[in-house]
Amino acid sequence: MNKVSQEIMGLLGISLGLDQAYFKDFFEQNDSILRLNHYPPCQKPELTLGTGPHTDPTSLTILHQDQVGGLQVFADEKWHSVAHIPGAFVVNIGDTFMALTNGIYKSCLHRAVVNTETVRKSLAFFLCPKLERRVTPAAGLVNAANSRKYPDFTWAALLEFTQNHYRADMKTLVAFSKWVQEQESNNKLIP
Ligand code: OGA
Ligand code: NI
Repeated sequence: MNKVSQEIMGLLGISLGLDQAYFKDFFEQNDSILRLNHYPPCQKPELTLGTGPHTDPTSLTILHQDQVGGLQVFADEKWHSVAHIPGAFVVNIGDTFMALTNGIYKSCLHRAVVNTETVRKSLAFFLCPKLERRVTPAAGLVNAANSRKYPDFTWAALLEFTQNHYRADMKTLVAFSKWVQEQESNNKLIP
């Protein structure tokens, strides 16, 4: 998974006019996460969601969903079901990559629905930077037409924010940016 995600990072770098090695180097050492999601069947699936609408705070997600299906992405003002394709992974951009590209790549809003019949499982690999590495956009991606969108941060800080202060939703990065700026101004007040 690590290798696949690095190859994708190489291509994403090229797509932005950066060197193929740019993001590969950035993520060469990484503190990535592997998570198994288990969604039990639900008698009233219309009343709940397996996972509410959110963007992943991480950088890149490579997800394997089983044949039950249930992943949905929000595009063109509608929720679209992502069909299970045997042998295929679902790849999506997360908030940290959105910050690394100064908002050029957008993190993808998604959710998972449950059903009355069957357990559903999915396996997600989340590519994350090394915990203490500074997340800052590539110089060429900040310019007069695309001014600086988010403050510098570390993955350790965003992880702490989403685990202890804020439940990931569709505006995590905006809420986090505000929190970072508040923390910085509080620190300045301490002599
Ligand atoms: C997640 C997620 C979706 C799924 O783990 O962040 O969005 O289909 N999972 O399980
Ligand atoms: Ni997710």
